[in-house]
Amino acid sequence: MRGIALCGFMGCGKTTVAKALSAHYELKHIDTDKYIEEKSGMSIKEMFKRFGEDCFRDKEHDAIKSLCKERDLVLALGGGAVQFERNVRALKDNDYMIVFIDTDIDVIKSRLTGDTTRPLLQTNDIDALYQHRLPIYESASDITVKCKNEDGLKVATMIIDKLKKA
Ligand code: S3P
Repeated sequence: MRGIALCGFMGCGKTTVAKALSAHYELKHIDTDKYIEEKSGMSIKEMFKRFGEDCFRDKEHDAIKSLCKERDLVLALGGGAVQFERNVRALKDNDYMIVFIDTDIDVIKSRLTGDTTRPLLQTNDIDALYQHRLPIYESASDITVKCKNEDGLKVATMIIDKLKKA
């Protein structure tokens, strides 16, 4: 099985779907944000605050570049990762399939209500950021699954079905 990288907007369900997919394929799953937090010993929120977004983006790139050299992973990417061509290139060069979890924006908004852990939510209009990113997610991905409020297992099943046909 090739490596799989899940992309999509904050709150689309990447982490829970990655767990379900990794159980199905018997692959290890890694959440790149969690990996960065563990490596740096600080939360993403703190990193943005102390060192700025560019520092986070460099750490994110380093994480993706080194993780995707391991073939058999299911990666849950951060919501902004595929905005950067260098990340998409690293994934594709290492034969990763990129899957876009295209969750309904109203569902995403209700999931993100009251969230204080994601720095970009404090400074951006969610709708505008989502509209800006939608075509980026679409063009970076090999397959897309359209979701409403399905649970992670259901979304994983939808992805598995699509991958069988791909
Ligand atoms: C970000 C999404 C976050 C995290 C960081 C930046 C983004 O990940 O990487 O706060 O640019 O959309 P999640 O998508 O897991 O929330």
